[in-house]
Amino acid sequence: MQKFIINGGKKLSGEIRIQGAKNSALPIMAASVLCGEEITLHNCPRISDVYAAMRILTYLGCKAGFEDKNAAVLKAETVSETNISDELMREMRSSVFFLGAVLGRTGKCRITLPGGCDLGPRPIDMHLAALRRMGVTIKEEYGVLDCTAENGLKGANITLSFPSVGTTENIMLAAVLAEGTTVIQNAAREPEIADLAGLLNSCGAKISGAGCGRMVIKGVKKLHGCEYRIMPDRIVCATYLSCAAASGGEIVASCCRPSDMESVISIFEQMGCIIHSSEDKIYFSAGYPLKAVSPIRTMVYPGFPTDAQAVVMAALCKARGTSVFVENIFENRFKHVGELCRMGADILAEGKTAIVRGVDRIYGAKVCASDLRGGAGLVTAALSAEGTSEISNIRYIDRGYEEMENVLSSVGADMIRV
Ligand code: EPZ
Repeated sequence: MQKFIINGGKKLSGEIRIQGAKNSALPIMAASVLCGEEITLHNCPRISDVYAAMRILTYLGCKAGFEDKNAAVLKAETVSETNISDELMREMRSSVFFLGAVLGRTGKCRITLPGGCDLGPRPIDMHLAALRRMGVTIKEEYGVLDCTAENGLKGANITLSFPSVGTTENIMLAAVLAEGTTVIQNAAREPEIADLAGLLNSCGAKISGAGCGRMVIKGVKKLHGCEYRIMPDRIVCATYLSCAAASGGEIVASCCRPSDMESVISIFEQMGCIIHSSEDKIYFSAGYPLKAVSPIRTMVYPGFPTDAQAVVMAALCKARGTSVFVENIFENRFKHVGELCRMGADILAEGKTAIVRGVDRIYGAKVCASDLRGGAGLVTAALSAEGTSEISNIRYIDRGYEEMENVLSSVGADMIRV
């Protein structure tokens, strides 16, 4: 089991190049199933969730691999398998995207209920209800979903009760080759949705309204290959800004997209940090001491993203005053609170709310990651702690962060992987 060892107290300083977005790369890789020709994805992050998606693509009979550092080449000339094994599905929650893509290409797919980070019950009821409206018959037995569209997928008018990211993406994947037009009302507006639409339209799909609440997808007969550049990862960027804030440092984040991060940047400014942005760079200087911010409510885009909650909370452990977080998106997304308290933080989590009373100092400790962003929060806190921290279960962190220890060491962190 690998661990991070971090000696805290070093101010970060220097430039960090932000990796491509995990939550764009994954649905885009599922989309490659819909296309019989080669797709080259530039700026594709080398993270374990991407390798897991490649294993699923290979299992389905598609070609998938990295050509050079960050270019993934995908080709689904034929899809020889439509049953995605339980073991593969359990590897990550995002595997549910493959359902819409495999159905879109072959008209049938068998999957088991998805696995992934344990963020409370993560149902896919909205995914299944939408697919049923598009003509899919779904038989559910012992956790196995047997999905078939005997007469092919049909365009439908779908209104989402909640702007679910994954549901919106699954509908897009099922709709691009469907017969007729699909309209999604109350679609998710996250930037990753527009990135997926960008890829699909580059392959000849006809999608409009991505990023707005109403999307229209006109079914086409076939998609062709393309080359595409994946958007920067706004959550990885928010993570490294939190590390700079927590350590009292000054960094430049490059190859990022500040326009995707306005709600996060606003919180950092309320914390007293100084931020200047250009189109693809953020110049960030930590305020000292940081000021508490209250309330921070996680919302769907363009509100404050739930994925940034843990890392911003970690940065606020030593702020002056009391911060209050309200987690509105996931039920069980405060698992990092107990571990932060082991480091001396003063946090009370109750239901959807976490109250963070700023303390003068936190201390290095042996802590354990239990999900991707919570793990990144522990790293953030360890950078500002006095003494040495040992963070275990870093496989969760490797799901979404490319070589985190090298990135942070390159800007002055005392951090190694053992
Ligand atoms: C995506 O998850 C992201 N994952 C998550 O990032 C992110 O936190 C989330 O969107 C919100 O932005 C990927 O893109 C791979 P949702 P997803 O469907 O699609 C409930 C990370 O750390 N819901 O918008 O699962 C669901 O339980 C990950 O990178 C239903 O009830 O998010 C959750 O409470 C974590 N029924 C809420 O909606 C459904 O059918 C948001 O889910 C679908 C969702």
